[in-house]
Amino acid sequence: MKNKILISKTTIFIFDSGLGGITIFNYIKNIFLNINFIYLLDNKYFPYGNKSKSFILKRLIKILNKISLNHNISLVIIACNTASVSSLPQLKKYFNFPIIGVTPVFDLAIKKTKNKVIGFLATNTTIQNYKVQNKINLLRKKYTIEIISSFKLVLLAEYKLLGYKIILNEIKKIFFSWYKLKIFPDTVILGCTHFPLIKKEIQNVFPKKIKFLDAKYFVIHKFKKIVKYNKNLLSKKKNIVYYTKIDKNINKIRNIFLKMNFHIFKKFNT
Ligand code: DGL
Repeated sequence: MKNKILISKTTIFIFDSGLGGITIFNYIKNIFLNINFIYLLDNKYFPYGNKSKSFILKRLIKILNKISLNHNISLVIIACNTASVSSLPQLKKYFNFPIIGVTPVFDLAIKKTKNKVIGFLATNTTIQNYKVQNKINLLRKKYTIEIISSFKLVLLAEYKLLGYKIILNEIKKIFFSWYKLKIFPDTVILGCTHFPLIKKEIQNVFPKKIKFLDAKYFVIHKFKKIVKYNKNLLSKKKNIVYYTKIDKNINKIRNIFLKMNFHIFKKFNT
């Protein structure tokens, strides 16, 4: 275990392909108040859910190399399940700063389920990942795992945050195959950081109340383990957002981050 980081000029780098990492930022933003956050959304290559493992790994190495040249990064949070399952072990070997990632919470789901039917929502790249496949195959000896991979759901989550109207029927269509199930899952793993943004709407199209699980508690726990708060060291906060492509929603994205106290908004060229 690496030594704890002492918060003085602590800068935490949060990464996602898009806006999903905001769900992770929201879990940790108030734990210690005087941290500087840098959030990078790789909207140039959004979505990651259809990219190969090797593409994602190379891309993350490139981004982390460049960001760590320009900023003194204390901790990296890969706030994207797709990127984490595709690259986390290699990134941890490659860089010497601590890196936390979010991954699907299967072990929590088996503790929570009562009817032994677990739903798993994630991107295609996450679902196809060999470690995720191995875990699913193992669990299938005792549990029923119902899987849905949907880029549409990722997109709808972004649209919601960007202020567009979400049509519930669109979400209903995504879950069409589940309506025919004999036993509906009582527990659903949100294996993509975008999905907590749209949890209420997903619940609304389900026939019964569901337990939704994401990596919240693990991220908070790992975060507290690595970061050590020293209340005597107050630094001025300076949060930065980097984006990798200018698109039609860029002003809306800027406004979302402004509300979260990110005042510097810059293009990251890579
Ligand atoms: N937020 C990402 C995740 O947690 C995926 C979104 C995408 O497909 O880019 O998996």
